[in-house]
Amino acid sequence: MKLYRSAIFYCTKKSGVVDHSYFEDGLMLVDNGRVVDIGDYSRLIESVDVGAPITQFKDSILMPGFVDSHLHYPQYNVIASYGQNLLEWLNTFTFPEEERFSNGEYAYEVGNLFFDELIRNGTTTAMAFCTTHKLSVDAFFSISKERKMRMAGGKVLMDRNAPVGLLDIDSAYKDSKEMIEKWHNNGRLSYAITPRFAPTSTTNQLDEAAKLLAEYPNSSNCKGVMMQSHLNESSEEIGWVKKLYPDYRNYFDVYDSHKLTGTNSVFAHCVHNTDDEYMRMSDTGSSVSICPNSNLFLGSGLFRFDKLHKYNIKASLSSDIGGGDSFSMFNVMNQAYKVAKLNGYDMSPFEAFYLTTLGGAKVLNMDDCIGSLEKNKEADFIVLDLKATPLISNRIDRVKNLEQLLFCLMTLGDDRLVSEVYTMGECIYKKNGGTEDYG
Ligand code: GUN
Ligand code: ZN
Repeated sequence: MKLYRSAIFYCTKKSGVVDHSYFEDGLMLVDNGRVVDIGDYSRLIESVDVGAPITQFKDSILMPGFVDSHLHYPQYNVIASYGQNLLEWLNTFTFPEEERFSNGEYAYEVGNLFFDELIRNGTTTAMAFCTTHKLSVDAFFSISKERKMRMAGGKVLMDRNAPVGLLDIDSAYKDSKEMIEKWHNNGRLSYAITPRFAPTSTTNQLDEAAKLLAEYPNSSNCKGVMMQSHLNESSEEIGWVKKLYPDYRNYFDVYDSHKLTGTNSVFAHCVHNTDDEYMRMSDTGSSVSICPNSNLFLGSGLFRFDKLHKYNIKASLSSDIGGGDSFSMFNVMNQAYKVAKLNGYDMSPFEAFYLTTLGGAKVLNMDDCIGSLEKNKEADFIVLDLKATPLISNRIDRVKNLEQLLFCLMTLGDDRLVSEVYTMGECIYKKNGGTEDYG
């Protein structure tokens, strides 16, 4: 049994309402990688064996690890590529870089750097695009396993409108199936079928993706595979989809008509969704992954946060590395807050932290395991150093309540806040006064 004493915070959701638990002087009991109990130190300490060692975090707050529901690990070296809209950016910077992942050694090298960065920023779970190459998928899941992280990912499917080196014209179904058999529900890992977006797949390939999705459904003792793609990110992209798919009602209908929607399907961006599309998303139980950094960086548009509540859509925030410009979910919350404000929507800090923890876990169908620190969940958590920088320390000295504290963290925070990262109750990262140590 391991005991952790700290201020502890996590979001909850009961009967559709986002709430939270906060223990100013809290205690968390962890055994076999899971939360055994959590609550006020003064109450829980009575039930603990006298003499059990306690790890205490002073001037800190302990919370669940972040969940980043949409990003591209092979775009680690694409981040901060200057001055293009989405389609130009893909052709100029992204596709050439993704071609390099035909080399397994390169995939491992970049994969390790990517995971270092995720962890340094306190993200313990993510759903990632790999590239079209199987080797990129093997690298991604092997590293996830080595780092003991709960991760989802998949081989990108593209059989048109991309460089030849990235096309999988005859191999998409077979290669994806091989990767599903190898990695899906292997320890903490989940597979996501990954048609990149409608313009880079033929209808034949979308049918193959749907066939795979139907072959691995949710069952009483086993979670089905996930499905991830992009939707309504930029106006040029939407115009292109209209040309390529003239007979469909709208962009979402392209996926919906091909049976790629549902509770295991996650669509990134959704910046320009119509009300009809939102309605159908809601009817099918499909989720949105919101990417404010990427939408600002590529000039794609401003996400309408008000629509989530109007149509009761499952949603989460994500970095969309490398269209997004920060691995830090603090920074993603900061941008989300500002994007929402520009559309007259005031996002509360509790909603922001929900969308980067439990909301993300729900989108990935992992909320039975992660996303909060309720009893029996996996002990994936981070420790934030409230004295991390002079500015943060001084500003936090002046807050009057938890809401103000969280707002400071999401506005001023970055990787410097994250002092320790744990997965399944084991420390996998410690920031030691500047010398970082990946355990
Ligand atoms: N749409 C299709 N592929 C991509 C990608 O790699 N990044 C982003 N932001 N949008 C996409
Ligand atoms: Zn993306």
